[in-house]
Amino acid sequence: MPAKLIDGRAIAAQIQSELAARVASLKQRGTTPGLAFMRVGEDPASKVYVGRKEKACAELGIVSETHVLPEATSESDLLTLIAQLNSNPRLHGILVQAPLPKHISESVIYSSVLPTKDVDGFHPVNVGKLMLGDATGFRPCTPAGVVELLVRSGVKTDGAEVVVLGRGNIVGKPMAAMLCQKGRGANATVTICHSATRDIKAHCLRADIIVAAIGVAEFVKADMVKLGATVIDVGVNRVADANSKTGTKLVGDVDFTAVEKIAGMLTPNPGGVGPMTIAMLLQNTVRAAELSIS
Ligand code: GUN
Repeated sequence: MPAKLIDGRAIAAQIQSELAARVASLKQRGTTPGLAFMRVGEDPASKVYVGRKEKACAELGIVSETHVLPEATSESDLLTLIAQLNSNPRLHGILVQAPLPKHISESVIYSSVLPTKDVDGFHPVNVGKLMLGDATGFRPCTPAGVVELLVRSGVKTDGAEVVVLGRGNIVGKPMAAMLCQKGRGANATVTICHSATRDIKAHCLRADIIVAAIGVAEFVKADMVKLGATVIDVGVNRVADANSKTGTKLVGDVDFTAVEKIAGMLTPNPGGVGPMTIAMLLQNTVRAAELSIS
């Protein structure tokens, strides 16, 4: 039997309709949630991602502003802008789209955003709170979205063997931290696999749940998946495609056609994790606005 597909678009739409009530209540109390985006340079994927986030904000009634800065922007100019946004009371969230140009330190930039406006969950204070299981922090949007997908699809994480492929700061590491905690959509036994892992296939074959965030096109093959396992594909990779007008196409970290025959549940890509990242950004922003008046 082919895998049941996990419809990220439908689950994200459900979350957005729940958030709409919270936005209405904030507006009744005189507060409109505000979010600032910053994008440095012309990375084509970042343009698309920020565009989608702006559109989602507009649909929910969050006011957003986008600062597009040239590739040559200095770190100190970016820090000056962030300081202005930090002190603007109409803004409840600040998001600096990654990747940044090589001459700008992501850790310096993410540390400069006020932790209370850090709706990306990248500030060391929020990273620390995640590790400590302190729910007062903001959690990074993509792994938080994966947890929400699992919970709302009825995938049991309690006691489950989970393999996270990838150890990046945006997905892999926070994903593992969330899944191994005590609590809802968590309580799993987590293994992180990365480029130095000796036998990734052996780890994957033990997994009840695989979260693929390794950044390698179609890395997860059918012979790496246990029959009936849940497979979550976080990857977005551009590869050559002679049949497409642009000469390229986007594929995930999972060989979808092959894995679909083995997995019990599988995220489509697109339409799986991507919409959930946006839903969690909206959720973090609404929460930041609520906290600002509480
Ligand atoms: N680049 C890829 N994913 C993300 C994300 O969740 N937030 C930001 N700021 N940049 C990203």
